[in-house]
This record gives sequence, C-alpha cells and structure tokens, in this order.
Amino acid sequence: MAFFFRVATLDDVPALVALEQQCFRSDRLSPRSLRWMISRANGQLWLVQQHGQLLGYGLVLFRRGTRLARLYSIAIAEHARGMGLGHLLLEHIEACALANNCAYLRLQVRTDNPGALALYERNGYQRFAWVDDYYEDHTAALCLEKPLAPASAVASSSRTSGNTRLPKYSTSS
Ligand SMILES: CC(C)(COP(=O)(O)OP(=O)(O)OC[C@H]1O[C@@H](n2cnc3c(N)ncnc32)[C@H](O)[C@@H]1OP(=O)(O)O)[C@@H](O)C(=O)NCCC(=O)NCCS
Repeated sequence: MAFFFRVATLDDVPALVALEQQCFRSDRLSPRSLRWMISRANGQLWLVQQHGQLLGYGLVLFRRGTRLARLYSIAIAEHARGMGLGHLLLEHIEACALANNCAYLRLQVRTDNPGALALYERNGYQRFAWVDDYYEDHTAALCLEKPLAPASAVASSSRTSGNTRLPKYSTSS
C-alpha cells in the first residue's frame, strides 16, 4: 500500500480539524493553533495521505539553542489504525528531526493512552518523567525521549533540559 507524506499547508486546516475531532477527546489543536503551527511555528506539520485522503499527521517542533525536538502531536484516522502507519509516520518525523540537526526527540503521552505508549516504547522511546495534572482534564503525562543521532554525536551535543510542563496546545515550545 503506497502512502504519501507531505508538509501541510493552510488549505489542509479543515481536514486536520476533522481529524483532531475524531482522534482526541480533549486538548485538541484549534483551527487557530493549526494555522499558527503551519505558517509560523519553528517546526513541521507532516501529513500522511493515500489517494488524496488524509490518514494522519504528525507535528514536530524545534527550538533554537537546543538539539531537542518535540513531537507535539501525532494522530492516525480511526479506519487507518493498526496497520503500521503510526510507526511509519514516527520514523518519518525522526528522520526530519535528524535532518534538522536534532539529537533527541521528546514527547508527552497521557498515562491512560496505552496504545500510543506501546507505539513509542516499541520504537525506542524511554520514560524520563511523570507530570501530574498535565492535560485539560487533569490526567497526568509521561515524558519520553529517544536519542536520534549515534551515541558519540549525542554525547557531545548541546542538550539542554526541555520544559516538560508545557500543555499540549501551548504554542511556545
Ligand atoms: C497512537 C496511534 C497514533 C497509533 O497509530 P497506528 O497507526 O494505529 O499504530 P501502528 O499500527 O503503527 O502500531 C505500531 C505499534 O504501536 C502499538 N499500538 C498502536 N496502537 C495500539 C493499541 N491500540 N493498543 C496496543 N498497542 C498499540 C503496537 O505496539 C504496534 O505495534 P504492533 O502492531 O507490532 O504490535 C493511533 O492509535 C492514534 O492516532 N490514536 C489517537 C490519537 C493519539 O492517541 N495520539 C497519540 C497522542 S500522544
């Protein structure tokens, strides 16, 4: 099955809003946040499509002065889950972060989202923090991290401690 990856444009916002609605019960990215992420953020919002239909997206943010990238959100449409698309998208985003000179990818996941947690841990992400009351509905978050570069490059990288308390929909990353 052939999938097509591309960077989102403002024309994709309506389809992304519908996907957010379908995939998340809370902490959804609003149309305004999506527009900001696509046009202004220091990051990339990647879409995965098949036959022109949006199947999923992943949003990675970068920050000047650090080699930490942040996977801000990832979602796969309900009907396209369980066939490896989340894994493919994650790999694609890791490659983009590496190409942007990032040495680590970090993310937060709800403690009541075992599916996403399994996806990340199977792909080499390790837990490093737990943050109480992180999401809108007060659920806690687990913070995970994966080194992207070879160990030697990571050891000499300018890693700084990321702010793990940023809410999912905050635009400052
Ligand atoms: C999490 C999500 C992105 C996974 O996408 P997906 O395309 O179904 O994932 P994949 O098919 O690539 O699965 C890869 C691995 O993830 C794990 N996994 C994914 N969904 C799972 C589930 N519901 N239960 C248990 N494990 C799951 C499995 O380990 C799987 O590997 P395996 O099939 O070899 O066992 C998708 O379920 C989703 O969009 N959920 C709603 C939004 C969300 O929760 N996003 C994450 C926010 S942190």
